[in-house]
Amino acid sequence: MSELAIDVRGLRKSYGEFEAVRGIDFEVRRGEVFGLLGPNGAGKTTTVEILEGYRERSAGHVSVLGFDPGRRPRELRARVGIVLQSTGLYRHIRVREALSHFGSMYPHPRDVDEVIALTGLEGKEDAVARTLSGGQLRRLDLALALVGDPELVFLDEPTTGFDPAARRTAWDTIRSLRDLGKTVLLTTHYLDEAQAIADRVAIIKDGRIAIEGAPDDLGSNGGVARYRVVYRNGTGRDIEQETDDPTTLLHELTGAALARGERLEGLSVARPTLEDVYLELTSGQADEAAAPIDDAAPLGSRRRGKRR
Ligand SMILES: Nc1ncnc2c1ncn2[C@@H]1O[C@H](COP(=O)(O)OP(=O)(O)OP(=O)(O)O)[C@@H](O)[C@H]1O
Ligand SMILES: [Mg+2]
Repeated sequence: MSELAIDVRGLRKSYGEFEAVRGIDFEVRRGEVFGLLGPNGAGKTTTVEILEGYRERSAGHVSVLGFDPGRRPRELRARVGIVLQSTGLYRHIRVREALSHFGSMYPHPRDVDEVIALTGLEGKEDAVARTLSGGQLRRLDLALALVGDPELVFLDEPTTGFDPAARRTAWDTIRSLRDLGKTVLLTTHYLDEAQAIADRVAIIKDGRIAIEGAPDDLGSNGGVARYRVVYRNGTGRDIEQETDDPTTLLHELTGAALARGERLEGLSVARPTLEDVYLELTSGQADEAAAPIDDAAPLGSRRRGKRR
């Protein structure tokens, strides 16, 4: 059995003249939670739905659990769970009915009550789907993806509309899937979500992967965004400096302060977060947003690294 759950090489997708996906390569290992991030229209849903067998690709190689989803193999359907970006396909069915029905299409479905509890739908078992709130309907989508106990789960913005507590619960659910050895491919616009649950992420922009790696590594080793050092000067103003080399900068700053017999008050060093890297790679205003507080600390030119 291949170690890879998903293997994508040179994937392209055109809608008429417009090329939405422009040569994407990535791998998702079995037992991994992999996050696709990127702005609206970047090509995430297009990519995911090609992997699900819902859209045809224009070019490239795609393998999902060893199958070509473009051929819509039967074997694949029973091993995969899906949350589509668009919701509300099952408006007239009751929650428990929907879950039992979906579960019956899989060889080893999970217990329906367990899935109801897992997704916080207790008390809504007999509710008709169309009477659910937006967030509850989204929970039903997630429940439907899990009830077949699939080994691979595609989640396209699964927690959109969730309240903060429900989002945390969904994270736990997704982590527990990983603990069970399942593979998860998700898209999200919540960078804290990606940071919290994804083993690796890829940031897509304009149909290409801009960067890929573990969320923590993108911040500390990517070289895309910089460390932020803040301290207070003699007049009580916060000075912020950005650097690729915090060790040297801190050495210089603290050395100079000690030589003056001073302390650097309010000193802090922050690693670039996934959000810093994301904004740097995807937003035209990123440089403005990261402008230094003090004019005496110019940004300098930004170094680009480890990009694809
Ligand atoms: N069926 C379609 N016909 C024509 N163009 C499409 C179609 N589906 C998507 N597109 C275009 O392809 C691009 C990528 O769309 P896609 O839905 O994959 O983006 P996304 O990354 O999922 O965005 P979002 O974060 O908004 O969900 C967009 O410019 C979109 O307008
Ligand atoms: Mg989408």
